[in-house]
Amino acid sequence: MARTPPTILVFDSGLGGLTVYREVAAALPGARFVYVADDAGFPYGNLAEDALVARVTEVIGASVSQHAPDLVVVACNTASTLALTELRARFSVLFVGTVPAIKPACAQSMSKRVAVLGTQATVSREYTRALIREYASGCDVVLVGSPRLASFAEAELAGQPVADAAIKAEIAGCFVDADGRRTDTVVLACTHYPLLIDRFRAVAPWPVDWLDPAPAIARRVADLMRGRPPASPVPPPRIVFTSGHTPSPVLAAALAKYGF
Ligand code: DGL
Repeated sequence: MARTPPTILVFDSGLGGLTVYREVAAALPGARFVYVADDAGFPYGNLAEDALVARVTEVIGASVSQHAPDLVVVACNTASTLALTELRARFSVLFVGTVPAIKPACAQSMSKRVAVLGTQATVSREYTRALIREYASGCDVVLVGSPRLASFAEAELAGQPVADAAIKAEIAGCFVDADGRRTDTVVLACTHYPLLIDRFRAVAPWPVDWLDPAPAIARRVADLMRGRPPASPVPPPRIVFTSGHTPSPVLAAALAKYGF
């Protein structure tokens, strides 16, 4: 008897979650995917904490009722570092969050100088500070909050190019050269940022390792879904939901590249 493929809901404030989706979809090509972008609330980095928890709980709650997913990937650091506990308490579905990859970054850094690049909200969260206290011993970690990069990534994906100088200014704080040690690892602590990775590499003052947590998240999702094989090797349709405007033709074309 054919078995129903698992349904995986991937959630972000905008299109950044696509960088996580593409890794999860590569690991589980037969799953049914629902991508939920709360673009009417974008950017989450600018929302007050109470408002963000209420919003994320409401949008995810509505999507869980509508699509009955087996697992929800909160593909947003700004939301995960604040709302995961509340989400797990409210809904019985499995949740996998996206939080700054401080532990692997500090473990792999040779110079023991690491930067965490995220929204201003993510880098100021207690959750992020606790990760540093717990996992960064012996490593100097600089927190760099960017007010504009997530919007730059959305603009680029919509076909509106952003100038090199503007990108360079947002990442400049990551590059520390002191006491004979330079930053060698930058944690991409916002899911929008891997969309700009080629631009970061082009304007960086020196080469660094840009740590994207998406492959590790995909492995975690695949582990949790083990034993629930998809019914058919033909990928089921992929559904996209945006809470705001309808995607422009350029944006729709960008989404189509991801299978939506
Ligand atoms: N993609 C989201 C993250 O990972 C943030 C973008 C926003 O400010 O909404 O933090």
